[in-house]
Amino acid sequence: MIRPPARPLTLAASALALTLAAALSACAPTTGAAPMIPPAAAQPIEYVRDVHSHARPEIARVLHVDLDLDADFQAKTLSGRATLDVTAEPGANEIVLDVRNLDIGEVVDAEGRALRYVVGDDDPILGRPLTIYFPAFAPNERRRITVRYATRPDAAALQWLTPAQTAGGQKPYLFSQGQAILTRTWVPTQDSPGIRQTYSARITAPDDLKVVMSADQLTPNGEAAGPGKRAWRFRMDNPIPPYLMAIGIGDLAFAPIDHRTGVFTEPGELAASARELQPTARMVDAAEALYGPYQWGRYDLLVLPPSFPFGGMENPKLTFATPTIIAGDQSLVSLVAHELAHSWSGNLVTNAVWADFWLNEGFTTYFENRIMEAVYGRDRALQEQVLSWGEMQDALASMPAADTRLHLNLDGRDPDDGMNAIAYDKGAAFLRTIEGVVRRERFDAWLRGYFERNAYRPMTSALFLTDIRDHLVRGDQAMETALKLDEWVYQPGLPSNAVAPVSDAFTPVDAAALAFFRDRGPASAIPWASWNTQQRQRFLNWRPEGLRAGADWLRPAQLADLESTLNLADEGNTELTFGWLQIALAHRYQPAVATAERFLTEQGRRKFVLPLFTTLWAEGDWGRPIARRVYAQARPLYHPVTTGSVDQVVGRP
Ligand code: BES
Ligand code: ZN
Repeated sequence: MIRPPARPLTLAASALALTLAAALSACAPTTGAAPMIPPAAAQPIEYVRDVHSHARPEIARVLHVDLDLDADFQAKTLSGRATLDVTAEPGANEIVLDVRNLDIGEVVDAEGRALRYVVGDDDPILGRPLTIYFPAFAPNERRRITVRYATRPDAAALQWLTPAQTAGGQKPYLFSQGQAILTRTWVPTQDSPGIRQTYSARITAPDDLKVVMSADQLTPNGEAAGPGKRAWRFRMDNPIPPYLMAIGIGDLAFAPIDHRTGVFTEPGELAASARELQPTARMVDAAEALYGPYQWGRYDLLVLPPSFPFGGMENPKLTFATPTIIAGDQSLVSLVAHELAHSWSGNLVTNAVWADFWLNEGFTTYFENRIMEAVYGRDRALQEQVLSWGEMQDALASMPAADTRLHLNLDGRDPDDGMNAIAYDKGAAFLRTIEGVVRRERFDAWLRGYFERNAYRPMTSALFLTDIRDHLVRGDQAMETALKLDEWVYQPGLPSNAVAPVSDAFTPVDAAALAFFRDRGPASAIPWASWNTQQRQRFLNWRPEGLRAGADWLRPAQLADLESTLNLADEGNTELTFGWLQIALAHRYQPAVATAERFLTEQGRRKFVLPLFTTLWAEGDWGRPIARRVYAQARPLYHPVTTGSVDQVVGRP
């Protein structure tokens, strides 16, 4: 690697008023409906320093990315070129991109002349800066730069699945996961959530596979592209943060839900997925009625193979979802409400830096619950609020105080460290507190306005506080005092104005939990059959006050009674299997090891996999050999996001 020249920039980093209007005018004319970009998007953006990107957008920035890539399933590479539309300060003569684990070939200008570039030192978290040098920019100039490159087989964003790792077992599969800072492992661009870019793509792949992206599909059936290949073209005309660029390639079929929603998945899974996800159509309608028009045209879902590392990912126009939500009874569809809600909180109004991840996830968790209330009623919404409150309490009790703030300090840390229940559940509790103080009507009016005013713009904790003071509090001192805004955002723990949600549906559940877990009653007294999934989750989440990890609080005979009476070894709902295994493994309950082994090798969702391996690991002599054996078997199934986390607990087999 060549080291970057240690010399000062030719130009001071003065504030550059780049607008999204400029970004949009840089795009080629499009087919399809024009995006509805509100005037707010044209206001100048003040870039916040992003410690997770090498980019210096105040000097030069990427407006549009055009990809031309070939997917090679033998070599496990994407290779070809990325052509970047770039703008810069007058006089600027370089742009810095983010790359990690990419093989960079030549870099050329619009006329095909080679441009000098330097790939800097590797940072274990950020990857490398790719600095490209060019003649000084004139005012308002825009240029094209083409980077030839290839990904590596172990690109962290990508998982290349063998046919055996798919549901159908016949054809290979590729999918990407960009959030938080993984897009740079497959696209050389400025990978910071505050630097929005439009994109277009032409992807070639084996002709028996279908390509989908988080963009408009311009070639629904692909186009012939030489022997054994087809090409697929895409456009995303709304400027998005790069972590939302996404691709899926596989044996995919599609079923519509309504005129603007539908499901992609492998053919054998299509009927079950489409049935399960029917409520999606009503959810989009409900979301629009709450907080304004859906801005992204279509809302489709891609149900992935079981190794997808997350529950869901809000890739615009095309949510990616784990197959573990296909429970058969629509009981886990709140995940769709969540990813859909991100179409406003996250995809329109985006955390400028990962330290303000709560602005994406807390708002979304709140909004998710409002969609659930609109579609399923207040009782169901309250049950889910209580479960979320429990997650928050667990996080508050188990995490270092500094990490229980909404606004985080992630300097020198992986943004993954901020992905915990605080951002989601404390964030949602904060918004519910505001709603309670100011009343729903006023709160909703403010939130609708917040999305409108800040659409297609980066958001920070400070900007949020300014917006809510300007547009909701408006100098009302009593309200200001009652809200405790700064305390919620900047202080650890839970402010005193937080109100715990209460669900009557959980009263009998808590009584049954006490009778079984504390008073050691029979499992036959648990009215399991009459409970919905949320009540069952509540039961399995019950823990004695002040329990230490690994402490025994049940006897083997009770565990056997619970397992057989509730038929937990054959439970089909993944949330419930997970809940049961957390109890069973913490008690070294040998009969559940086979269930755990099956569960851990059948799916690779990090939220399930990591806690179970952690529990096994905590059970020393008993659990560690099991963890090592199962992980050796399961690891090849998992996505790099999941192995990256589990490796830190179990080690690499
Ligand atoms: N955007 C997140 C997933 C994510 C967060 C990926 C941080 C990478 C870094 C997504 O919206 C999400 O929150 N998914 C949850 C499900 C949700 C219902 C809470 C998940 O995957 O568990
Ligand atoms: Zn989310």
